[in-house]
Amino acid sequence: MITLDRTEKFGKGLHREVFVHPDNAALCIKVVTNGNQQETKREQGYYQQLQKRNIAWDLLPKFHGNIETSLGPGAVFDVIRDPNGKICQTLEHYLADKDFIANNQQQLQTALIELREYLLKYHIMSMAMKPKNMLYQLSKDGAGKLFIIDNIGNSDFFPICNYVHFFADQKIVRRWDRFIAKLEL
Ligand SMILES: Nc1ncnc2c1ncn2[C@@H]1O[C@H](COP(=O)(O)OP(=O)(O)O)[C@@H](O)[C@H]1O
Ligand SMILES: [Mg+2]
Repeated sequence: MITLDRTEKFGKGLHREVFVHPDNAALCIKVVTNGNQQETKREQGYYQQLQKRNIAWDLLPKFHGNIETSLGPGAVFDVIRDPNGKICQTLEHYLADKDFIANNQQQLQTALIELREYLLKYHIMSMAMKPKNMLYQLSKDGAGKLFIIDNIGNSDFFPICNYVHFFADQKIVRRWDRFIAKLEL
C-alpha cells in the first residue's frame, strides 16, 4: 500500500489526480477522484493491446500496472520530464504563451509531424486529441517532442478499428485533422 499525500499532486484532469511515485521519481500514479473506474478499465484494455503489439513507447508514457494507494486504486505510468528533470507542461500551457509559440513555431511543427507519424506507425488511436492531454517536452537544443498522456483508444461499441489497422489509420487521420484545424498555429 502506497501512501499518497493530496498536497503533493502535480497534475489534475477532469477525472484523475496525478502524483509522483513516492519510491520512484520516474513514475507517476493516477488516481480517479471524480467518477468510477470505467474509463480506467477501457484505457487499460487498450494499453494491453498496445503491449501485445509490442509498440515502441516513444511518445506515449508506458503503463506499469495498478497498485493500491491510500486514495484508492492507482495506475502507474512513466512520468514525462524535461532534460532538466522538471515534469513537462501540457501543450495547452504553452499555447497560452504567445511569445513561446512565436519563437518555437518550427520546433512545434516538427513535433506535430513526428507525433502524427508515430500514431500512424503503431496505429494508436485517440478518442479526441486535445492540447491539455498532450505534453510538450523541451530538449536542451530547443527541439520539442509531443507526448499523448490521456484519451487514447477507442470508445466504439464494435471496435473494428482495434483489429484492422486500415480503419484505425483512417480514424487517426480524421481526428488528427480535426485537432490541427482547431489549433490554428
Ligand atoms: N505521464 C505523465 N507525465 C507527466 N505529467 C502527466 C502525465 N500524465 C498526466 N500528467 C499531468 O496530469 C494532468 C492530468 O492527467 P490526465 O491523465 O489527463 O487526467 P484526466 O484523466 O483526469 O484528464 C495532465 O494534464 C498532465 O499535466
Ligand atoms: Mg486529461
